[in-house]
Amino acid sequence: MKGLLIKNANELVTCSGRKAKFGKEMSQLHVIEDGAVVIEDGIIKAVGKTADILAKYHEGDYQVVDAKGKAVLPGFVDSHTHLIFGGYRAEEFSWRLKGANYMEIMERGGGILSSVRMTKEASKEELVKTGLKRLDSMLTFGVTTVEGKSGYGLDLETELKQLEAMDEVNKKHPIDVVKTFLGAHAVPVEYKGKEDEFIDYMINEVLPIVAEGNLAEFCDIFCEKKVFSVEQSRRLLTRAKEMGFKLKLHADEIVQLGGAELAAELGAVSADHLLQASDEGLKAMAERGVIATLLPGTAFSLKENFARGREMIDNGSAVALATDLNPGSCFTESIPLIIALATLYMKMTTEEAITAFTINGAAALDMADTIGSIDEGKRGDIVILEFPSYHFIPYHIGVSTVEKVIKNGKLVYD
Ligand code: NIG
Ligand code: FE
Repeated sequence: MKGLLIKNANELVTCSGRKAKFGKEMSQLHVIEDGAVVIEDGIIKAVGKTADILAKYHEGDYQVVDAKGKAVLPGFVDSHTHLIFGGYRAEEFSWRLKGANYMEIMERGGGILSSVRMTKEASKEELVKTGLKRLDSMLTFGVTTVEGKSGYGLDLETELKQLEAMDEVNKKHPIDVVKTFLGAHAVPVEYKGKEDEFIDYMINEVLPIVAEGNLAEFCDIFCEKKVFSVEQSRRLLTRAKEMGFKLKLHADEIVQLGGAELAAELGAVSADHLLQASDEGLKAMAERGVIATLLPGTAFSLKENFARGREMIDNGSAVALATDLNPGSCFTESIPLIIALATLYMKMTTEEAITAFTINGAAALDMADTIGSIDEGKRGDIVILEFPSYHFIPYHIGVSTVEKVIKNGKLVYD
């Protein structure tokens, strides 16, 4: 067998492109009717109409998947998750229903800090076991690449344990895991009021080890009122950039602090959340090519106002969507739920939402040249829906329409 051949796709949604799509470009999905794809050695070799492909490639040489009556899309890229953590915080969800506030829970030593305690207690094996289960679930939603953040350690030992657990799940699971170091995710109890010292500790004692060991590709920070200021974020991220990390920020989520402006200033790959981002900050991001990663599941779960997705796209931003899967503010791995929220509450079109979870998700991981679309030379990461059209994705609210997943040319979910 030379590889895998998908034929007769009712809609072959290629999302064709090798870089982020900004503004109006986001509505171009480049759909081929009655499409086919050939994958060899894990890489897409040919894309086109079924008749043209079958005239050139002999079906007998390939494992053939007949996608008659089905839509075929690139694998989804979930570019912002916190998938490795110990314990759960279900009680916090119930407290919030009774009026408690996310940031106040954290200030009282709960929230992220409570996940930090539980992650410290968990063994690496436990983190790997629960991580693999979460990846299994993500695969059922058609995710083929996921970003994972540390940040439930806030000390050298536990941050490394989380990053190592990510390495292990990456090796064991078909989904690719891209690692982000988020050592500055919250202020640990022992550093309360001494945030600058904590940033020094991260810069001098943790970042160098993560950099030398090549343990993460990105560095991220929670830039937020009562967490880390713009100045502290600038200091950490500037050092991280000098050490070779690509940058991400949790920016302007609860308060308008200037995180979007900082992301543009530093040339971050993405700034994420952006519920409160200023017009100037968003404009600066678009000009500098910084991806605006929106996480509507978090706004939904915390009952916040949604980010201004429609406006951002109309003003020329490149928007990516992600789940933000984490044990506190948004415990979901449901891609279709996020797409439903993006379309219904952020007024994005279905086409824009699909772009945001494929080629723009890939761009948010600086991988738009290798994944995120069905183009020759890209990785053979593909999903086949049980329905004939991509319009079923938001319509079947929150429920997976994915029937098959192909990763690096291999059928890994059926
Ligand atoms: O992206 N905003 C900060 N960090 C995460 C939440 C993490 C948690 O609550 O455990 C987020 O929403
Ligand atoms: Fe997050």
